[in-house]
Amino acid sequence: MTEIVLIPGDGVGQEVIPAAAEVLAALGLGLTFREAPAGFGHFEKTGNAIPDETLADVEATGLALFGATSSPSGGVVGYRSPILALRRTFDLYCNLRPTWSLPVISPRPGVDLLLVRENTEDLYVGRERREGDTTVAERVITAAGSERIARAAFEQACERAGDRRLVVTIVHKANVLKVTDGLFRQQCKAVAAEYPDIGCNEMLVDAMALRLMRDPEAFDVIVTTNLFGDILSDQASHWMGGLGVAPSANIGVRAAVFEPVHGSAPDIAGQGIANPLGAILAAAMLCDHIGQPAAGDRVRAACAAALAAGVATADIGGSANTPTMTRAVLARL
Ligand code: IPM
Ligand code: MN
Repeated sequence: MTEIVLIPGDGVGQEVIPAAAEVLAALGLGLTFREAPAGFGHFEKTGNAIPDETLADVEATGLALFGATSSPSGGVVGYRSPILALRRTFDLYCNLRPTWSLPVISPRPGVDLLLVRENTEDLYVGRERREGDTTVAERVITAAGSERIARAAFEQACERAGDRRLVVTIVHKANVLKVTDGLFRQQCKAVAAEYPDIGCNEMLVDAMALRLMRDPEAFDVIVTTNLFGDILSDQASHWMGGLGVAPSANIGVRAAVFEPVHGSAPDIAGQGIANPLGAILAAAMLCDHIGQPAAGDRVRAACAAALAAGVATADIGGSANTPTMTRAVLARL
């Protein structure tokens, strides 16, 4: 029996996670679910953004489906983003963010790339401080952290390759960040040497920002540091049809957390109109992860078929709401 912790969180997370769970339940894999709280709403009620019980649940099952949480940008004393807490607590070092052309809603066909984002280091270590009128953020890049994310990227490339020769593109800014990204680049190149069947290329992050907009179909697997990956993955999601449909996986050794890339969308929360496809496609990645890639493919195919039939929520130009979009996917499973 495989049990999954559902962490809907705030805003539209409360709407899209039940939809994704419904799709998972319909697969007949014998999955079971338990719900656990986290988020700004929970923080306001209890003073804690992610209770120890939620962490214990994730520890116990090793699998979670996470919605979204709201983080006030000004910062609130004592509040820390629950997804960052999960990534740190369970050392979820590998963030997989695939982008591929979906029927009807993709701006162009032929895109199929995977962005592999380092998920624990870089500016995300959260070491920011104020020294008088100067503020400092530490950018931490380690040899071990770089090596393991590079290995994850090359392993993903092997899985996706079939009989094609795929290329992993290392994205960095080592011309300026000579020490930190110098190390990241060097570790990635060392790992690349162990994979003679996979090509290896490198690109500065600013150049990649343009190339990703100009010819996204030129890329197979991209590996990069945490903040660059955060930015480039939002950009890449454009080719799928937008942030509302983009899925991701946060993978560590003892746990994995799957989530849509979009946030809590407070502007549309509570109206039942949020796009559930990001969460549903994240659930498909969960299927892949638990050794059920055929189930993952069924879910992806059902989403594509629903879109091909013209069913879409408002963010992707349609008039479906969360329940009707979800039903359209369920009907095509
Ligand atoms: C993401 C999000 C998070 C991040 C936020 C919510 C902390 O933007 O998963 O891409 O910056 O990693
Ligand atoms: Mn982001």
